[in-house]
Amino acid sequence: MRKKIVAGNWKMNKNLQEGIALAQELNEKLTADKPACGVVICTPFIHLASVAGIIDKSIIGLGAENCADKEKGAYTGEVSAEMVKSTGADYVILGHSERRAYYGETPEILKEKVNLALANGLKVIFCIGEVLEEREAGKQNEVVKAQIEGSLFDLTTEQYANVILAYEPVWAIGTGKTATAEQAEEIHAFIRGVIAEKFGAQAAEDTTILYGGSCKPSNARELFAKPNVDGGLIGGAALKADDFKGIIDAWK
Ligand code: PGA
Repeated sequence: MRKKIVAGNWKMNKNLQEGIALAQELNEKLTADKPACGVVICTPFIHLASVAGIIDKSIIGLGAENCADKEKGAYTGEVSAEMVKSTGADYVILGHSERRAYYGETPEILKEKVNLALANGLKVIFCIGEVLEEREAGKQNEVVKAQIEGSLFDLTTEQYANVILAYEPVWAIGTGKTATAEQAEEIHAFIRGVIAEKFGAQAAEDTTILYGGSCKPSNARELFAKPNVDGGLIGGAALKADDFKGIIDAWK
């Protein structure tokens, strides 16, 4: 059975003290009332080492929101996959639409990042998703397929086993406009088919595919009830422990 996961993406929110307080609050709530799914929080780089010391890692996994496309060296301001791993983090989000749109991350750059993250023992939460015009033109399937092919198709099946996919329609991110559960199910099933063609039926069956985009406690249960939706990647609602736990509890 593939793993069900609710992952939080804090984006560029919370200073260090606020981040520590949020991690502490979440840790208390989830140790008192154990989740029925995997839980991961992905924080800004500077929070990672501190948060790693706070959370019970048997309940909450820790991840970064990005890593460099180079191994090490003279790349001022960058943070390598090895550095991320050394903080105690086990995951990294790669290919988020904000990174693609605002920081020019291409499938080729993301391929390098994925390779380095996996080589350093990180699990990759790889984001894919179409913009509104592509959805309106009915091109969402070809867009997500190209994103997967461009960055993941050089992996071996063993490497691919450490990849989690997150389908995030760009028009639903931070907009309050969620994809319907039917829309999510339809494209998640398509994505699983793409994975089956390349990595085989078992790998496809084992792939966790998260939905992201305005997921909240009020709609999580309906989305997660779909057979191909294995959890969520949560932005805004991950910034409040009660809201995030409300989404985690949708698996109960
Ligand atoms: P949102 O963000 O939940 O705030 O829409 C999701 C994401 O970008 O991962």
